[in-house]
Amino acid sequence: MIQGKTGRGTAHGKAILMGEHAVVYGFPAVAVPLPEIKVSVEAVSREGDDWLDCTYYRGSLQNAPGELGGLRLLIEDGLAQIKCRGPIGITIQSDIPSGYGLGSSAAVAAAVARALYHLAGAPLPQETLLDLVAVCETVCHGAPSGVDAQTATGLDPLWFVRGRSPEIVAIPNPMYLVVAASSQPGNTRDTVQQVRALKERWGSGTGPIDRIGALTAASRPAIEHGDYPYLGALMIEVHRELAALDVVTSEVEKLVTAALRHEALGAKLTGGGGGGSMVVLAKDRQQQRQLADVLRSAGATRVWAPIVRGTGLSAVN
Ligand code: MEV
Repeated sequence: MIQGKTGRGTAHGKAILMGEHAVVYGFPAVAVPLPEIKVSVEAVSREGDDWLDCTYYRGSLQNAPGELGGLRLLIEDGLAQIKCRGPIGITIQSDIPSGYGLGSSAAVAAAVARALYHLAGAPLPQETLLDLVAVCETVCHGAPSGVDAQTATGLDPLWFVRGRSPEIVAIPNPMYLVVAASSQPGNTRDTVQQVRALKERWGSGTGPIDRIGALTAASRPAIEHGDYPYLGALMIEVHRELAALDVVTSEVEKLVTAALRHEALGAKLTGGGGGGSMVVLAKDRQQQRQLADVLRSAGATRVWAPIVRGTGLSAVN
């Protein structure tokens, strides 16, 4: 490979509107891409060792700390697949806070895979991309459903069921969301394990996971008919079930309460929880702005106000 040749890749964050945790067990989830929160990666052929430069680490890939084990495995797999033998330097620039339920690890993995394939001038089919992201996600999260990887790599709101091709959810009217991060990161691997233990106690057919599954199933027609007051009510119900799974911290609960006190249509935890972020459905643009301010005053450390439209755009690179 020519020295100094550069490959670039991007991916973005996501918010789960409905169905987190239950999606691990085959129930559906609705997830929306957050293209305004991005990861950009540069892969450059260089001399010396394989090199990694990101927020948490700068140094030889070989000596990267254990937390970056998944990323290291993905890079090694990717380099083998593109038959790259020369050393590579990888620089990761991410706006997605890690541990906040916004799909940071899947987005980083997707952007790295895209940068490696771009460097090699090789096409990267979506299936191969998802396989590579799964290599990294399996180390980071244990048994990921795949919803993060799908949403981080495309621009469509998705109806996702584990093991099936995702479907695009039609969005007839713009959806005004506010996504707010608490001050405490969560660990998806830990909360997924904790939920698994609880689920075994409840058995199947009853309990919060099954109820989240039913509420999410009801949300699809609500979204497709633009019935956002009903969608909001379903989000509030899902939040209660997530609280019953003990993945909602008091800080996230405080943000949800603040949004609902100010008449948001819906508000709930988004992602794995144990800290992390929440998502709010607002009535319109004006209320979206107000709720963003409310959440900042209630202690959110970062706030985004995405407007989700049925873009119909396909995967970006
Ligand atoms: C994480 O963003 C969502 C979870 O449902 C885990 C998964 O789907 O892999 C908690």
